[in-house]
Amino acid sequence: MSSVKPHRKISVADIRLRKGGEPIVCLTAYNAMMAEILDPHVDVLLVGDSVGTVLHGHDTTIPVTLDEMLFHSKSVARASATSLLVVDLPFGTYEANAASAFETASRVLKETGADAVKLEGGVTQADTIRFLVQRGVPVMAHVGLRPQAVRATGGYRIVGKTDEECEMLRADADAVAEAGAFAVVLEGVVEPLARELTERIDIPTIGIGASPACDGQILVTEDMLGMFARTPKFVRRFAQLRETIDAAIAEYAGAVRAREFPSDAEVYANDNGR
Ligand code: KIV
Repeated sequence: MSSVKPHRKISVADIRLRKGGEPIVCLTAYNAMMAEILDPHVDVLLVGDSVGTVLHGHDTTIPVTLDEMLFHSKSVARASATSLLVVDLPFGTYEANAASAFETASRVLKETGADAVKLEGGVTQADTIRFLVQRGVPVMAHVGLRPQAVRATGGYRIVGKTDEECEMLRADADAVAEAGAFAVVLEGVVEPLARELTERIDIPTIGIGASPACDGQILVTEDMLGMFARTPKFVRRFAQLRETIDAAIAEYAGAVRAREFPSDAEVYANDNGR
């Protein structure tokens, strides 16, 4: 199987066709600088509402506003050339009814240039997903551990440990696929169930803390780059940037305090060359 992404812009239809095929590579981005680095490597860039915890210092994603999502999404859109750009609908902007979801989603698509939206929920959001899809809004669903629901579920719990949870998750996966979502994120789902759901439904599953059998994988970029002091079990640190940044900042601080920075080579001479 090829591991190089095409040079043209990836569409929702391309992602849909990857069911059971070449794994779909997804990462989060919140600004143009990161998007520019990621874009040549990934199939999907997600402006996740994890921006609230990663960049804004919140404990959960619940306080994230639509204005914040629009702001970050516009920045990412400026630097993403070939990836499919998906934007999270933040908590409180789509759950009440399908019309409010359409209002939010249409703002996201019109104002940011995003290709699709993502929303959390299975059976309970199926009618909204259908409503959006029928009106031209491509939807990526998100089931399993739903960070926007942690107040109701009692925390960041892995899902699928009991028969009852497995049945609920099967129903959620079936519902979002049937409603027309083009893909679904499976977050924090026990491995055998994530594998089973991937075989069960005919849309791509994107795993995070789920299974290598999923049709694609997503991580929060700052997690996989090792920018946090601690990361959950499902995160592999592909770099140790926290340590790298810490060492660089310590070196800079030392150089400034010793008046060793800037050096002669790092300052500008006047017109006489002095
Ligand atoms: O908000 C987010 O970043 C997400 C992904 C981690 C799936 O929803």
